[in-house]
Amino acid sequence: MSESLYPMPVTLDPAWSGDTVAVQAGRPARVAGAPMNAPITLSSTYVHDAALEYGRDGNAGWGALETALGALDGGRAVTFASGLAATTAIADLVPAGGIVVLSSVTYFGVRNIFERLEARDRLHVRLAAADDTEAVLAAADGADMVWVESIANPLMVVADVPAIAAGARERGAITVVDATFATPLRQRPLDLGADLVMHSATKLIAGHSDVLLGAVVCRDDAHADFLAAHRHDHGAIPGGLEAFLALRGLRTLAVRLDRAEASASELARRLVSHPHVSKVNYPGLPRDPQHQRALRVLPNGSGSMLSFEVAGTVEQTEAFLAHLRLLTHATSLGGVESLIERRARYAGDASIVGPTLCRLSVGIENVEDIWTDLDGALRAALG
Ligand SMILES: Cc1ncc(COP(=O)(O)O)c(C=O)c1O
Repeated sequence: MSESLYPMPVTLDPAWSGDTVAVQAGRPARVAGAPMNAPITLSSTYVHDAALEYGRDGNAGWGALETALGALDGGRAVTFASGLAATTAIADLVPAGGIVVLSSVTYFGVRNIFERLEARDRLHVRLAAADDTEAVLAAADGADMVWVESIANPLMVVADVPAIAAGARERGAITVVDATFATPLRQRPLDLGADLVMHSATKLIAGHSDVLLGAVVCRDDAHADFLAAHRHDHGAIPGGLEAFLALRGLRTLAVRLDRAEASASELARRLVSHPHVSKVNYPGLPRDPQHQRALRVLPNGSGSMLSFEVAGTVEQTEAFLAHLRLLTHATSLGGVESLIERRARYAGDASIVGPTLCRLSVGIENVEDIWTDLDGALRAALG
């Protein structure tokens, strides 16, 4: 419905790479006088009598963003107010009493949603290590949904999406991939056999820490129709301004990601031999246990996120964070500015990470400046 609100070019050249699609998709059709960008529509209601009557029915900005995200992932996109609003809608695809297999390393907000539903007997959760494909598939017997992250938050576990999706399908379960860390430019899970892709567009897609927005890209129309109706009925709609900002952020995703990823790779390499660091998690490192799988399922790069354990106490780790001058001690990720935090401060992560594990979202600042800050703060805190 929202797509018909504004004329969009219906065809993109199938030969274009994702980098180009991210720049071109979802723009108004090229007719004389047309603007380059879809409009921002800030209206809660519309003049009777049309398909679009009320703000929950649709918005021109959603249509543009969904056209772009759908083209990037090769499916039909439905946008939501946040990544967790999208997750809540996806959880409703599970039938009453159904079974969801979750990776034991899953963003804790997603785990919360499913575990709270389990506590109310709405569904059952089975946990399995996403890097152990056999364990995931054993858990998928009799399940309705398998949920993995392309690169899992915050330990950077890489899932073998093609093997998991194929095995889940044989067992009658759908596969959902949270591709927030990978973005459509590093992995297209639908091409690898997954049924749904979830993005917290709050992160790399919007890219400037100024928006919360989520999206699901679906292989099947039936799933997209269900999710769009869920959004309409439950009201977890993205704002018109947020949709505009997310699409504007998407235009520069390729250059931001290339730069941040190159820096993440260099920082990971240096951190490995730092005297105050005991462990580094980054699938792009040849010595990382996830590396061989990453080369296969994320052939274009391992993204801009890494985590590492400070070789010291919790107090020293907190002191390290307090000494940082360029990096911001804050949660979230995927913005142009580098952010870092100690994950065990969240109850939801304390059981799966070491107490000194820091998650670093690498931004687009100069890599030497980031390194000087990291190294200086580590030495200031740990001697
Ligand atoms: C991997 C992952 N998935 C989903 C979410 C939730 O997204 P949102 O904050 O947009 O609700 C987050 C947020 O940190 C995340 O890191």
